Amino acid sequence: MTEDTPAVPSSGGAAEPGGWWRDAVIYQVYVRSFADSDGDGVGDLPGVRSRLPYLAALGVDALWLTPFYVSPMADFGYDVADYRDVDPLFGTLDDARALIADAHARGLRIIVDVVPNHTSDRHAWFRAALAAPPGSAERARYVFRDGRGPDGAEPPNDWTSVFGGPAWTRVPDGQWYLHLFAAEQPDLNWENPEVHDEFASILRFWLDLGADGFRVDVAHGMAKAPGLPDVGHGNQTEMLGTAVLPYFDQDPVHEIHREWRRLLDAYGGERIAVAEAWAPTPERLAAYTRPDELHQAFNFHYLTAPWDASRMREVIAESLRTADAVGAPATWVLSNHDVKRHVTRYGGGEAGLRRARAAALLTLALPGSSYVYQGEELGLPEVLDLPEEFQQDPQRRRGGGTGRDGCRVPLPWDGEEPPFGFGAGPASWLPMPTAWRDLTVAAQRGDPGSMLALYREALRVRRDHPALGGGRLSWLDGPPGTLSFVRTGTDTGTGGGRRLGCAVNLGERAARVPLPGTPLLASGPYQADGGAAELPPDTALWWDVPEDG
Ligand code: GLC
Repeated sequence: MTEDTPAVPSSGGAAEPGGWWRDAVIYQVYVRSFADSDGDGVGDLPGVRSRLPYLAALGVDALWLTPFYVSPMADFGYDVADYRDVDPLFGTLDDARALIADAHARGLRIIVDVVPNHTSDRHAWFRAALAAPPGSAERARYVFRDGRGPDGAEPPNDWTSVFGGPAWTRVPDGQWYLHLFAAEQPDLNWENPEVHDEFASILRFWLDLGADGFRVDVAHGMAKAPGLPDVGHGNQTEMLGTAVLPYFDQDPVHEIHREWRRLLDAYGGERIAVAEAWAPTPERLAAYTRPDELHQAFNFHYLTAPWDASRMREVIAESLRTADAVGAPATWVLSNHDVKRHVTRYGGGEAGLRRARAAALLTLALPGSSYVYQGEELGLPEVLDLPEEFQQDPQRRRGGGTGRDGCRVPLPWDGEEPPFGFGAGPASWLPMPTAWRDLTVAAQRGDPGSMLALYREALRVRRDHPALGGGRLSWLDGPPGTLSFVRTGTDTGTGGGRRLGCAVNLGERAARVPLPGTPLLASGPYQADGGAAELPPDTALWWDVPEDG
């Protein structure tokens, strides 16, 4: 396929029956690190636009663009100062319009990020809040409180920031404001109707501009327990995503999502929202995707599962069961801009790469919608040895854990030296390893054994095969350490029809798995004979199950 061939039938973002999002493959563009059009070392919207042919040829259905709005970049754009304009670093509003139009012309939908839990401390609202006295309407848009102890010198409660340290900062008149992330990211007060109105207007702004939906940042935040009670015990950083905290996954947050769903449904063209929600159980996560709430939620239980067959099977089965119970598609995510890249998580080096190849086939065979984080299609590892002066992530600077810079290193496109065609300038904002010369798009494009070739082929089969995308999964018996299942698509029902088999060996020894059909695609070498395959460790195989198979 040449890169100029639209890989997906052009939809122009128009309404289509059947819910395009139920089995969409959505590619996450971390705009800052994707492609730099003006040589300043930072990716931008025209850069993304120039690489649309690559994305269309890869065969994804939609792009999720991380925040490109006006921001002082204390958290690289997740601190928004103006939700209705583009930061000059990333381009202009016209660039956003042009990108959306070009993407639609190629059959790619565009999902933009919305950050409703907090604004930047440079947002006009927060500046006004600081200038206004305690008790004012300006302060009521945020969470200001008096402190505890003599002179109110202690924070109002014991909440800690996700990025480390107290979740409160004191202002000169003695009050404190809440920030669940960096001090430059004050939390909004979602009990204030003005905040609801403002975000409804922001959503409309981007929908009117042509966006096909939103990725909702910290969708489990926003609602805080009444009275802001102490957590009282435990290391709160370790409790994130494993317990309901008085500031995360509070039930009233679902009211906000219902309100947003009504707004989205009022627009044509099946505009969607996907929740970035860290919920303690798959059940609580699925609650974000009840029929009157958001369309999808990232499946972080899958992302955090170890490379272990029984644990993976448990997570997959539980995710399917809970998503099914609310009529939502399951989603599958292996990496994003906040976590260590999965090649490295799965062990790094040759083994990590082999497992990532097998994981790609496993993930893309599962029923529902899949996310691909930029660079995973190239097999990029985490960059673990970034020089100190480049490590800028507020999470690391505040002591809240390892930095996330290593998964945000820009993409290598072509050439023999950094910055590998990322931009015309001499350097990229995070330096790229020289070893990435073998991982560039250009280096992989002509190599049928490359990770890029595997993703392209898997996405092509997924698009063409009636059993992939939506539909069902039935587990097959297999040796320990392996996963095997057969897929039926939405159109094929349970009997007859073409089906697709998938087997993955996550164990340490070669395993014999049934192969009742014709092999379609494998993540690595294997032997097949007489209705069975000998799969080496860390290898996945897809096969076609004939109509009567
Ligand atoms: C989300 C984003 C992350 C950001 C945080 C605060 O988790 O994915 O990058 O730091 O929200 O907005």
